Amino acid sequence: MKAGPLVPLGLLLAVQYFGFAILVSTHREKLYFPGVRIVALHVFLLFDVAGYILWRALIRPQFSALRDLPKPRTRGGFLTGHVGAVFSNPLGRQVAEWINTIPNQGMLWFRGMMGAEYLIAAGADSLRDVLFAQAYDFEKTSAFRRYTKRFIAAGLVVQEGEIHKANRRAISPVFQPRAVDALKPMLTRKSEQSIQALLRRCNQAAGVYSPPQHDGTAVLDICDWATRFALDVACLVGFGEDFRLAETSEMKPVLHAYMTIFTGSKAKMSQYAWHNTAPPWLVNAFPHKLDADMDEASRVIHHLGDEAVRKRLELIQRGEKPPPDFLTEVIQCGKFTPSQCRDEVLILLAAAHESTAALIAMTIWRLTQSPELQDQLRNELKHFGMQAGIADMSESAYEQMTLINAILNEMMRLEPPLPITLRKAVRNTTVAGHVVKAGTYVVISPYAMGRSVDIWGSSALQFNPHRWIDPPTEEKPGPSPYGTLNEHGGASNHYGMLTFLKGPKGCTGERFAKAELRRIIAALVANFEWTIEQDHVPEQVGIVVVKPENGIQVRCRPLPRANGLDQGASLEEKSSLI
Ligand code: HEM
Repeated sequence: MKAGPLVPLGLLLAVQYFGFAILVSTHREKLYFPGVRIVALHVFLLFDVAGYILWRALIRPQFSALRDLPKPRTRGGFLTGHVGAVFSNPLGRQVAEWINTIPNQGMLWFRGMMGAEYLIAAGADSLRDVLFAQAYDFEKTSAFRRYTKRFIAAGLVVQEGEIHKANRRAISPVFQPRAVDALKPMLTRKSEQSIQALLRRCNQAAGVYSPPQHDGTAVLDICDWATRFALDVACLVGFGEDFRLAETSEMKPVLHAYMTIFTGSKAKMSQYAWHNTAPPWLVNAFPHKLDADMDEASRVIHHLGDEAVRKRLELIQRGEKPPPDFLTEVIQCGKFTPSQCRDEVLILLAAAHESTAALIAMTIWRLTQSPELQDQLRNELKHFGMQAGIADMSESAYEQMTLINAILNEMMRLEPPLPITLRKAVRNTTVAGHVVKAGTYVVISPYAMGRSVDIWGSSALQFNPHRWIDPPTEEKPGPSPYGTLNEHGGASNHYGMLTFLKGPKGCTGERFAKAELRRIIAALVANFEWTIEQDHVPEQVGIVVVKPENGIQVRCRPLPRANGLDQGASLEEKSSLI
């Protein structure tokens, strides 16, 4: 219960109590017994709270202007409605099921905690209003913003209104096509470096100097490895620091801190639910057991950010040329104080690494399910000049390749790292012609939209990269042996692909993330054969960004080097070739 209803409830209680006190004093002989006022106070309190709950959970929703929209057939929990189902793992599955089974015109309605109203925007008109036309009428929830501010930072992701508009404008130059193009060679270099480290790991497993009876492969948790790689890249593009986390299995403080904050678990879900439902004073009065660990992790990353800003300001003051990264851009736009610069960098690290890591890991998992697809991909890479030990490929080739981009599109469609995002109307507004009152929540689910049968047809749930490919013809052979990439994947509208959302609050890093994914997946597949080492399908968990619970165990086998060097070649020889 928030502070709001406490005030009218308190007033009602006071009126009842004093009314009763007057009654007792005037009819003393009939009504009085010791402690009568205390008993009455408790009875009134009980009735008032029960009445309030009944009103919120059962009566008020009957008067909703949205109640005639399509809705789930069941009522859901008495107090919780359907929030438990919608926000349980795997996130997005319940919404996907509803939009595919309940006839609807792009909007559904359900009840949440204590009768709160939720709208699911699942059609072109409703999504256009929520993401574009009325984007600033809908804000991220105050609980999400408080949680993110406390444990990560108060950067762009938690800002709203005019501050968000101004700050997004200020930092957008770093995400413009030309700026991202300038960062691509760094991404290629970083991918190659990380491949070298993986080769070293395989060599260590084989024992470089031991007889070759060991098969020279390595087993690794690809989720852990991808997190290390993506955090390395995020720190490099964020503030020019290369922690080389993907080249070791060491748990450096920055990695430990981000994993403490981000790793999804049942305990994290319950902590997040507590922060989301209880008012701040109650959260502070009864801290969850995870809070202290996450506060400590947050101190570590704040210190890291403060140091990065301090060093960069000193460098600029000395008149030296700062590196062309996000921090330089944020400092030089002149709109932020040092602590705001820190917050923007920290929020960028958070936004950039975990989601990219999840897609890298899930793409490798998907490829372990199809050796043929791996071979086809290697064939395409070879066509463009990349094979084990050789990366003779132009930067623009990554964008031109057909199959790798089709596979990534298909992964982004089916496994979006942010399966659901939640907004709340901050003023009365309209969505697709329906009046939506302030306080109504709106669910946007990239997961469900990517699986919408209305948009993708009856094969919506199947992994099929070829939906993104126009096969080669004589007139249009395409840049790759597989033909030409199409931009629609056969979808009936472009709201089927909301992996990065869209509009003024959509992901600023989409272009960069795609460039990173192409380069690292290309390098991983060109240099290694990937097989699965576990017999269960990964289940994604998380509170905002999802990742497979307990990681994914895979085996990587270095492929024979195109230059003739085999597994027994010395580490130095191999490394120098990558
Ligand atoms: C595959 C990787 C990624 C995915 C799937 C992804 C997805 C998203 C989504 C869905 C949002 C909107 C969240 C919401 O409003 O609820 C978002 C916001 C954001 N993303 Fe990404 N992202 C990815 C990678 C990146 C990268 C690499 C960067 C930076 C280099 C980045 C920077 C941001 C920023 C700054 C925001 C906040 C935008 C705003 O509030 O105006 N993201 N991202």
